Amino acid sequence: MKILVTGGTGYIGSHTVIELLNAGHEVEIIDNLCNSSKTALDAIEKITGIRPVFYEIDLCNKTDLKKIFKDSEKTNRFDAVIHFAGLKAVGESVEQPLKYYNNNLVSTLNLLDCMAEYNVKQLIFSSSATVYGNPGDGACTEDLPTGQGIASPYGKTKYMIEEILKDVAAADSTFQIALLRYFNPVGAHPSGLIGEDFSGRPNNLMPIIMKVDHGDYPELSVYGDDYPTPDGTCIRDYIHVVDVARGHLAALAALRSGAREWNLGTGKGTSVLEMISAFEKASGKKLPYKIAPRRAGDLPKLYANPARAASELGWKATLTIDDAMRDTINYLEHLKA
Ligand code: NAD
Ligand code: WQD
Repeated sequence: MKILVTGGTGYIGSHTVIELLNAGHEVEIIDNLCNSSKTALDAIEKITGIRPVFYEIDLCNKTDLKKIFKDSEKTNRFDAVIHFAGLKAVGESVEQPLKYYNNNLVSTLNLLDCMAEYNVKQLIFSSSATVYGNPGDGACTEDLPTGQGIASPYGKTKYMIEEILKDVAAADSTFQIALLRYFNPVGAHPSGLIGEDFSGRPNNLMPIIMKVDHGDYPELSVYGDDYPTPDGTCIRDYIHVVDVARGHLAALAALRSGAREWNLGTGKGTSVLEMISAFEKASGKKLPYKIAPRRAGDLPKLYANPARAASELGWKATLTIDDAMRDTINYLEHLKA
């Protein structure tokens, strides 16, 4: 298949491009490089031997986007789009909501207009477990209500886009849309050549652990150890980014008329202290940390029930937290070399 990947130089996008190329698909990438760089293209080429066509454009610029779809008519039309592009910093979205609503919504609307005009009707969208809001204690299943109690404008853009995509698919039965709800992607490519960018001021646990290991921060602050969990720290469903990437290939093969949601998670919860121990085990070094106050908006426990993806996509996470830590450390070593 010929696949257009938006956000394809980013963290999850670049790992997915590698899996797509390895599976024999033709890939073209759009990214405005606001949170990634062209070095991802070098790494993709090194790993796969293929350098995908790259368009450095902003999806919010409809004229530029339309040109790509129009030009593809002359050669070979896209069969599908995988839409990773978006802003994702939860804290920043609280401070600058309009930046998030503009970027994430306008880019998606432009993409949908072009897809409709040029008859490209298969779409995979990067959604998030954040759409469940505050789902309570158990594992999240896809039929839980969404949209209530979402803590950030970022999370609300994911919910809003899901709703838009459901409406589009309901109005035009030729659309085939997958809404993939990622839990907490971590890890790096086993080659050590690509991984998560931890420059800047990340909010997420793993890039902050990477910053501490790299010597940029003196220690990790563990946000709260008085939650109702076995060790008092929050529990999340951390999933290896290569497993997430492979979930997209499984979804591509299973697309049907309509919009359907699938969780991409492991089904297993891991606490912050367990993540620290796993990192220490893999690196052979102590990771300095302190217990800090709770972070506003954090849920004690959030993890997936991945049964729907297993039965309908034939996809299951196969890699472990230890694999993710090993690959992260390998990536950090490559950066130092
Ligand atoms: P990322 O920031 O590494 O990748 C997103 C890419 O989109 C970046 O390369 C950025 O430059 C590009 N981009 C942003 N706005 C654009 C625009 N208007 N035009 C063109 N390119 C644009 O993020 P990621 O971690 O790879 O996440 C990919 C997707 O998955 C995002 O939509 C994110 O919200 C979603 N997601 C991520 C996580 C996570 O924890 N990483 C969890 C759930 C969902
Ligand atoms: C994980 C755990 C923190 C940093 C966010 C988004 C969600 C999704 C994934 C995109 C929590 C703890 C963290 C630190 C810590 N992204 N922590 N010290 O909050 O589960 O989800 O990323 O869709 O929408 O909200 O992930 O990595 O920020 O936090 O103790 O310095 O690590 O309290 O328990 P989260 P996270």
